[in-house]
Order: sequence, then C-alpha cells, then structure tokens
Amino acid sequence: MVIRIAAVGDVHVDEDVVGRFRPALEELPDCADVLLLAGDLTRHGTEAEARCVAREFGGLGVPVITVLGNHDHQCDQVPQVVKVLEDAGITVLEGTGTVLECAGGRLGVAGVKGFGGGFAGRCASDFGEPEMKSFVRTTRESADALASALLSLDCDALVALTHYAPVPDTLAGEPLEIYPFLGCYQLGQAIDSAPTALALHGHAHHGTERGTTPGGVRVRNVAHPVIKQAYSVFHLGEQLD
Ligand SMILES: [Fe+2]
Ligand SMILES: [Fe+2]
Repeated sequence: MVIRIAAVGDVHVDEDVVGRFRPALEELPDCADVLLLAGDLTRHGTEAEARCVAREFGGLGVPVITVLGNHDHQCDQVPQVVKVLEDAGITVLEGTGTVLECAGGRLGVAGVKGFGGGFAGRCASDFGEPEMKSFVRTTRESADALASALLSLDCDALVALTHYAPVPDTLAGEPLEIYPFLGCYQLGQAIDSAPTALALHGHAHHGTERGTTPGGVRVRNVAHPVIKQAYSVFHLGEQLD
C-alpha cells in the first residue's frame, strides 16, 4: 500500500498571491493523502498574511500540516499566525508530531522549524560570547525537539518536516557563504536517529531538490522556487526515484 504525500514550502503568501495555488490545490484529493507545508507561508509573518494563507490552503479535501519558517517569525506575531492557521484546520508542528490514518497506512509527521548553524567542518560552535552560545543552543534544542517528536510516533511511515535544511546536498546552487544560515547538520542527525522514510524542507530558494542524510534518508527541498510547481507528490511504500 502507498501513502501519497504532497509538499511545498516557501509559498510566501500575501494578498497578491491568493488564488495562485488554489486551482492545483483543488486537485489534491485525487493525488495525495496529505499536504505538508515546509514553512515560510507568509512574506513577513503578519496576522493579515496568515489570513491569506488560510484562504489559500484552508478547506482542502486533505489534511494540511505545516511548520513555520523564519519569514513567519519576522513581525513577532507567531501566536496570532498559529491561531489563524489552526482555525482554518491547518495543523502547525513545532517540536511535535501527528499521526494520520491514510488508506495506505498510518503516516507519522514530526515537524520543527529548525535553525541555522552549518554543516560538518564548517559550523558554528558552542564557544565564546553568550550570543554565540545562544545561537548554537537554539540549533541544538531545535534538533533535539525534532528527534524526540520523530521517536514519539507510532506509525507505518515516518516523515520529518522542517524549514531549515538538514543536509548541504539540497543547498547546491546557494552561495557557500550562507550555508550556515540555511540549515544545520544536527537536524540531519535527528532524522537519522529515527526510522525516518523521508525528510522535507524548504528555505533554500536557490538550492537543489534532492539529497540524502549521512544515514541514507532521502531529503527533498520542496521550496516553491526549486520545485517550480504548486506541490510535489511523494509516494511512500514504493521505491522513491
Ligand atoms: Fe523562503
Ligand atoms: Fe526561509
């Protein structure tokens, strides 16, 4: 049996974008069991923009699960944004997970926004100024929360959903200088600590679609500017290409 997962990130919705995704979204019940959103739903994280997201992604014929992105934090209105999304029936994950009963089995989704920090050999370290230690602590806590959420789920297929990237593979195309602000290796370690079948992220608009964690988990960058379509659909339970 197959579980069908539609996913997109970085839709950056405001008033101008409303309606652009909707025709493709209306077709979701025919091709997917769930829609996962990989953060950066809005441009600046305002409550008004969240209402635009709710109009565009609410009331679909499939469950919608999201994490927030850095843009969704910009205006310090996260509680209001989350409330608007949840009122529209969208599940917001942050260091938490959920299990869906799909025709093809129980799908577990664990999500966290994540954070930067960089990748092996080129990463921030927990040393020096308190600001630096705070930065790295945020990275570590975010990855630990993802690992806990992944390990807590009782399901047939497990998916990790983040905004920041867990591997550098899917950043190819971005300037090397900004890799530490696009993701961190600790998220990859968290994904590898559980029987994760697929890891989805966004944030890297100029990155690459496909990558793999050191432990062999398939990673897909579903940022809208990368996939260049309303969403990609992944089939779990059969060999991913
Ligand atoms: Fe983005
Ligand atoms: Fe982002």
